[in-house]
Amino acid sequence: MTLLLVGGGVWRATDQGVFRGAQGNAYTPWHDWREADGTPLALVKAGILAANPHNTQPWVFEVSEGRIVLYADRRRHLGNFDPYRREMYLGLGCALENMLQAAGPNGYAASLTVASGDLSLEQPYDGLVQVAELRLAPAPAMPNPLYAAIERRHTHRGPYRDTRLSAMQRDGLRAQVDGERVGIHLVDDPEVLARLGTVVVRATRAIIDDHAMVADSERWFRHSRREIEKYRDGTTLDAAGLSPVMTTLAKMLPRPDAETNHRYWLEATERVQVATAPAMGLILVDDLYDIQQTLAAGRNWQRLHLWATTQGLAMQPLNQPVERVDREAELGLEPAARRELAALLPGDPRRPTFAFRVGVAESPARPSPRRSVADTLVDGDIPSIGRAST
Ligand SMILES: Cc1cc2nc3c(=O)[nH]c(=O)nc-3n(C[C@H](O)[C@H](O)[C@H](O)COP(=O)(O)O)c2cc1C
Repeated sequence: MTLLLVGGGVWRATDQGVFRGAQGNAYTPWHDWREADGTPLALVKAGILAANPHNTQPWVFEVSEGRIVLYADRRRHLGNFDPYRREMYLGLGCALENMLQAAGPNGYAASLTVASGDLSLEQPYDGLVQVAELRLAPAPAMPNPLYAAIERRHTHRGPYRDTRLSAMQRDGLRAQVDGERVGIHLVDDPEVLARLGTVVVRATRAIIDDHAMVADSERWFRHSRREIEKYRDGTTLDAAGLSPVMTTLAKMLPRPDAETNHRYWLEATERVQVATAPAMGLILVDDLYDIQQTLAAGRNWQRLHLWATTQGLAMQPLNQPVERVDREAELGLEPAARRELAALLPGDPRRPTFAFRVGVAESPARPSPRRSVADTLVDGDIPSIGRAST
């Protein structure tokens, strides 16, 4: 294929890593994550492989023999896409879940303490804020299939097969959700599924009409291999769920402008992700902006996705409706997304904080990049970027 190209096209094919796929240093954390087994660092190496919004990886860890402190790195935010940093805290909850799943197999009993308080629009743009502390005590090592699934869990954005979930799969998913204040609402009835799909597509349209949201989402999109190797974060073409041919073609084209890029996203959402979803779901909380519930909801998403991975099921968050709920609240807009979500849960006072789809994918998902674990560590003395408390 390279031979058919001329001039800049040949250069671009190399620059873009067109034929390389999701490989290289930016993907090493998926392969060497077991190298610190039996030490507290093993838990952090598991933590950084967790799901997180736009692959912002908003975490910093302070590790000592019997203790790991998790901080939110407030610089790694989604701006107008996440004005309350609700998604940031969901992602921090995902990291906590991976760490907790890693404790037993690495010979630790972990006890968790999390920050409390409310998320608000007054979110500082820098500094670290403590989110959770894990106290580790030695314990007999215990195998754990969810721990083993950490390296195989990837967000799957491609087409899913036209196969309904079995009752066992639905019950299995529901059984992963625990926590007094977190619930799950699974949808596979075709009529309700179509309604939820419409809500997702409508919210995606509202996002692409909101230039500030588009701009802040685009900041985390990494188009070229160079960007991926430099930043080792963000969303990539390799992880977009395109076919191998389309992935290659998209990499060869110049980076589209933000509006065009997000129109492709709308198309994929409508024609592939919603159109082929045999089931969707919502993670519910009592209070959308309570920090502890948000962390718990993130932990539940990560656990659901790990369990689904052990069962050969693919999953993808489709969280646009809740992103719009936050944006509507921030700007004092007509609460359209909020009302549409509430209409899907008649009589239920709880509120969705996370929407997703689940099914059997047509082909495997590719991994997304990760910063090295060393880049996520601080020692006990962190005044340079400021320590705040919740
Ligand atoms: C709070 C939250 C919201 C997310 N929303 C979306 C979404 O709307 N669409 C999507 O495709 N992925 C979404 N994701 C998935 C992330 O983009 C993904 O976890 C990240 O890029 C890392 O990739 P990985 O999960 O394959 O490791 C979300 C993840 C989290 C934790």
